[in-house]
Amino acid sequence: MSIGNSGRIVIEIPSEKKRLLYGELSKRGISLKGWFLDRVDGYLRGNGESTLLDHKQLADIFTNKFDSATIADGASEKPTAGKQQREIKAPKQALCKAYEELESRFSVRILQSDVSYVSPVNFVESLRRPRHRWFPYKEGFSPTFVQGFITEFTKAGSGIVLDPFSGVGTTGLVASKLGFNAVGFDVSPMAIFISKVKSIVLTSTEIQKLSIYIRDVQNSPLEERWTPPANSTVVSYFEEEYLSALLSIRMVVSSAPNKKISDLALLAFLTLIEEFSTHRKAGNGVKRKTRYDYRKTNESAKEKVRIAFVNKLSEIREDLELDPLAKIPNFQVASCINSNAIADIDEVALALTSPPYANCFDYSKIYMRELWLGGFFKSTSDQSAFRKSSIRSHVHATWSDRNTEYGSEIAERIICPSLESQELWSNKIPSMISGYFKDIGALLSTLKPKLRKGASFGIVVGNSVYGGISVATDLLIADMAEQMGYSVTRIDVYRGVIPSSQQYALVEDRRWARESTVIVKKK
Ligand SMILES: C[S@@+](CC[C@H](N)C(=O)[O-])C[C@H]1O[C@@H](n2cnc3c(N)ncnc32)[C@H](O)[C@@H]1O
Repeated sequence: MSIGNSGRIVIEIPSEKKRLLYGELSKRGISLKGWFLDRVDGYLRGNGESTLLDHKQLADIFTNKFDSATIADGASEKPTAGKQQREIKAPKQALCKAYEELESRFSVRILQSDVSYVSPVNFVESLRRPRHRWFPYKEGFSPTFVQGFITEFTKAGSGIVLDPFSGVGTTGLVASKLGFNAVGFDVSPMAIFISKVKSIVLTSTEIQKLSIYIRDVQNSPLEERWTPPANSTVVSYFEEEYLSALLSIRMVVSSAPNKKISDLALLAFLTLIEEFSTHRKAGNGVKRKTRYDYRKTNESAKEKVRIAFVNKLSEIREDLELDPLAKIPNFQVASCINSNAIADIDEVALALTSPPYANCFDYSKIYMRELWLGGFFKSTSDQSAFRKSSIRSHVHATWSDRNTEYGSEIAERIICPSLESQELWSNKIPSMISGYFKDIGALLSTLKPKLRKGASFGIVVGNSVYGGISVATDLLIADMAEQMGYSVTRIDVYRGVIPSSQQYALVEDRRWARESTVIVKKK
């Protein structure tokens, strides 16, 4: 590999590999330069660094507008169109027709450069914002997006802002800052714990107590250790000395002088887990790290973990001093797809949410280490209960059919039968897709009577693909909402999403591989 003064990068790889790479990219309609920059951008974002690409450039990657890049191997040929094109299964015509009909019925805005955030789901921005930066939740909203949405669709400060899938509470925190009463639900006890801790307010005396606690941790011999989690998989994701150091810090959390400080300390502890693990979050789970950055310095494992803990708590203390909260949001562990949670709240002025996408990701698996080491899971039955109460966006649970009165007509009539006729990696995918829309339907239905007349509901979703069949979640939700008596304001499309390389290769029509916000209104 060589890098020229002008910024030109030349990577030499064998011709066979080069042909394969060009072939795969050409099937996806992505340029080499676009693909490379997207990977670099993802790498930077994964490391919490500022992104390389602006919103327009990211969008362009997916529409092949980037210049070509070079991979040198002595030959310079690129595949001719068609030469590398594998036979792709014809899209189901009926589905295509149904999507085109919906697309023409709704107002669909393709946003490229006229928004000030890269994507509504972009936690990188949160990592620079007080309170939001306390815990990295990859699936979290961009606070700028949330603020823009609330100010566009509600009147200042009046009524409840609800996020039914609230994650680590971005909507609630932003809405509270704007003077609204905010309510958030999530089935993850850890996500709700983090949201509540991010809403803590300390008096100046309490801030002093926190400073004393931080100093005590700096001087502590860290001799005692917390009991290791009763899950061998979690234990296997750490080197012994680092797990032992983490368990010493976990013990120090419980010696905090009061509940607020011990909660802040537990949150700080949760942020250490990924850093000192041999694995990193990737896709639907974890992958072994290729670089062990935590090994780089010379201190003992215990010292390194202590330093990271103290640094995190100091950052939290700084935000508590500089960024007081006037209103405290109300976050609750509850499933929003059964009517009880929603039934108890007052009139909603605006709802904004991002449900898990129908992409098989299981949050209990992705955050498994934090859920066990944080003490949120104590047995495997806690994990099963979490999976069962979550929306049907993954295949890791068997559900007795629920919310059967709802669902997407197009999913039932076209998508699920097409998927059932194929051999997919899991035979639960068709029922997952069917269940996903039933659960979203239940939420739309129970929320409607709670929404103030004229109130908007924004639902940020990413579409998915299985067996070459596009599941255009945005269009299907808009369709269901309209049939339930909502009016569909518009669908804002932010960027293309690449579902997975194998799936993407099978889709001929990529118009619906995208991330968008469906905005509906109570009439
Ligand atoms: C995409 S994340 C939301 C992130 C959020 N926008 C933020 O800024 O942190 C989706 C969340 O939905 C939660 N979830 C899954 N099923 C749920 C259900 N039935 N009710 C409430 N929350 C649920 C997951 O635990 C996850 O935290």
